[in-house]
Amino acid sequence: MGETNKEVEHLFLDFMQMKDFAKDPLVMKSAQGVWYEDVHGKRYLDGLSGVFVVNVGHGNRRVIDAMKQQLDELAFAPPLHATNMRAIELAALLAKVTPGDLHTFKLLSGGSEATESAMKLARQYHRQTGHPQKYKVVSRYEGYHGATLGALAASGVTKRRSTFEPLPGGYVHVFPPTCYRCPYGLKYPECGVLCASIVESVIKQEDPATVSSLIVEPIGNTGGIVTPPKEYYKILREICDKYDVLLIFDEIITGFGRTGEMFGAGTFGVTPDIICMGKGMSSGYSPVGGIAFGDEIAEAFYGEASAGVHFNHGHTFGGNPVSSAAAIASVSETVERKLPARAREMGDAVRRRLREMEGEGVIGDVRGAGLLIGVEFVKDPETKEQFPEGAAFGARVGRKALKKGLIIRSDPHWVALAPPLVIEKGEVDTMMDIFSECVSETLKEVS
Ligand SMILES: Cc1ncc(COP(=O)(O)O)c(C=O)c1O
Repeated sequence: MGETNKEVEHLFLDFMQMKDFAKDPLVMKSAQGVWYEDVHGKRYLDGLSGVFVVNVGHGNRRVIDAMKQQLDELAFAPPLHATNMRAIELAALLAKVTPGDLHTFKLLSGGSEATESAMKLARQYHRQTGHPQKYKVVSRYEGYHGATLGALAASGVTKRRSTFEPLPGGYVHVFPPTCYRCPYGLKYPECGVLCASIVESVIKQEDPATVSSLIVEPIGNTGGIVTPPKEYYKILREICDKYDVLLIFDEIITGFGRTGEMFGAGTFGVTPDIICMGKGMSSGYSPVGGIAFGDEIAEAFYGEASAGVHFNHGHTFGGNPVSSAAAIASVSETVERKLPARAREMGDAVRRRLREMEGEGVIGDVRGAGLLIGVEFVKDPETKEQFPEGAAFGARVGRKALKKGLIIRSDPHWVALAPPLVIEKGEVDTMMDIFSECVSETLKEVS
């Protein structure tokens, strides 16, 4: 690969020190199924679906062929004054898989565009339905909704936010439902799910006449695969209804089968007012995103042109024909191959292997749903005592895994496993063999 080390210096990658990266850059060359191959010919089992993206697996023929065919026909038609057949077909297909009456879509090209669009849609909706003062957004600490300024303001990951403060105003944060380490020091179920009910107090304190929306990830990634108790979203739904606050599910990660249902909304049995989608929508074959919303919201945006009530928002690549062709093929694969059910089955297989590892005495908690699985490491499962920050147990496991040819998401105290939904049982075993080896070796090093 010759000059790659030097060439990499022209790039900035995400949230990464390029000086370190350039010393030993990981450069992928090809991928098939659940396997990547780098430019040196080393293979990696993709235990993270790229980054919660490649739900239908790499090298999917149907998606590739659909995109190639679309390129020959029409590569671009701007959403400013026209649309195209693939965008229309994609919206119709999505309408068959979204919950409730969330059958109107604004097609976009990524997750941050989706969350920004959802929050703007909520503001404009209230403005046009007699509540022009409703502008604030409630969201959660440790949540992540994207890197653009509005999405970042709604996010609650301190280390990603603080560099850019002050962020736009009008964003209020509440503590996440991190049951294993309850921010209120309580225990479920005696807690009465305070993490949900307290949202009502926050809205009241802020003045309900000023609050437009509540945005949450059904299962939060950045806080460590934060998985709330089953009543949590039902309580949030009731609170939002009571105060006319739009409930936005950021399903950029949880959408398209990842949690064992088509959307996280189905996993928790709650229909939000707006769903944000991205990542798994095209399985990464082309950048794509979107928001889905119901009739009542859509209705507020129809009227005479002179009334100016249209959604005053747009992005050049929204509904791009090639991206739409990729998304149609990927969503069709997800539905026809019953990938949500497969995510449940393979997720159970991963969990069984994790239970077998309990004897190691370092797995404190296993969270998530389907093939979105978080593992929190602790020094003592009884007391939940953590390893010292410097030990960076999870990060060490992640680094070892990479050396041994397995890609996972890692943090000092936890890791996430989220392979493509097409993973086979034998591949789950390979993934878990490597993972368990890495945990044992790390344990020897830190104890
Ligand atoms: C839950 C969630 N929302 C939004 C985003 C932002 O998506 P994008 O990086 O495509 O802008 C991400 C990205 O990781 C995400 O995980």
